[in-house]
Amino acid sequence: MIKDIVKQLDPLPPKSKLIIFGGGFSGQRIASVGRHLGSQVLCSRREKNSAGADFVFDSDKEVSIDILNGATHVLSCIPPLLSGEDPVLNQLKTQLLNSKNLKWVGYLSTTGVYGDTKGEWVNENTSPNPQQERSVRRFACEKQWLETNLPVQILRLPGIYGPGRSAFESLLKGTTKMVDKPGQVFSRIHVDDIAGAVLFLINLYSQGKNPSVVNVADNLPTNNLEVIAFAAKIAKKSLPSKVPFEIAKETMSPMALSFWQENRKIDNKLLCKTLGYSLIYPNFKSGLKNCFSQLKMN
Ligand SMILES: NC(=O)c1ccc[n+]([C@@H]2O[C@H](COP(=O)([O-])OP(=O)(O)OC[C@H]3O[C@@H](n4cnc5c(N)ncnc54)[C@H](OP(=O)(O)O)[C@@H]3O)[C@@H](O)[C@H]2O)c1
Repeated sequence: MIKDIVKQLDPLPPKSKLIIFGGGFSGQRIASVGRHLGSQVLCSRREKNSAGADFVFDSDKEVSIDILNGATHVLSCIPPLLSGEDPVLNQLKTQLLNSKNLKWVGYLSTTGVYGDTKGEWVNENTSPNPQQERSVRRFACEKQWLETNLPVQILRLPGIYGPGRSAFESLLKGTTKMVDKPGQVFSRIHVDDIAGAVLFLINLYSQGKNPSVVNVADNLPTNNLEVIAFAAKIAKKSLPSKVPFEIAKETMSPMALSFWQENRKIDNKLLCKTLGYSLIYPNFKSGLKNCFSQLKMN
């Protein structure tokens, strides 16, 4: 619920204007929290008729450079281009550098930049070691943002879930795959905590608590089977049989396979202990309960 996020946040300073490039799943949620806190927020999509499109931004088309007028905060939620370039910097770097009012520039990145650590924990001091091509591109974009010398903060995210994008959708469609790979864990984050963390970090940044990279993950990296079993129990659905990874991988898409080839646990102490953000959904159990409650309402 939006009120659960908003109640633990301070409003942004008066006259704040947040521009979000990429109003997809996370971008829309961040926008709604920002608006509930009283700020002006504008979100891009590639098509002007898409839900929540306040303006159009498409890396393949020219953008109106006026969009940054009066912006105090900017967030990009757009993945890298295949060239490894960042779509926003590609088109708007000069305008960003000339914007006099920018207090914070956020970039949603991925924990994929850490690569495979064979199940070990990683924190912001761990040297990135991207192994997948898309993670190499992602790390390149992080560097492009940091090299602007704008007040940039990189938020590294693991698997994003939330209402409409969780274990329930495939369970209800009957397409769940119980891939069994002992020792494999995934970290995750509920979309409400991305929104909460973004607004929380923006306010801290202006107080001088401004680390350039922050992991935004929940407390409990978990094997996928546990997550599916918990969701099935709540939804009262029977579980399909387990399929050993060695067999399941034969029919996986290259993208899906790439996720199973890396195993790491994301440490969130910087965000949750040092900076003091309190997770709304500290683990997949509380997060899935929330997703299920939204499912019943639809
Ligand atoms: N999904 C995950 O589990 C996960 C995990 C870690 C990190 N991430 C990264 O975190 C960010 C937010 O994730 P999300 O799942 O909320 O993203 P999402 O729902 O896929 O939204 C991505 C947004 O980027 C826009 N976009 C994509 N390509 C574009 C281009 N070439 N030019 C202009 N706009 C473009 C999309 O436009 P439209 O609205 O028009 O489609 C959409 O608004 C993304 O960078 C994502 O890669 C995702």
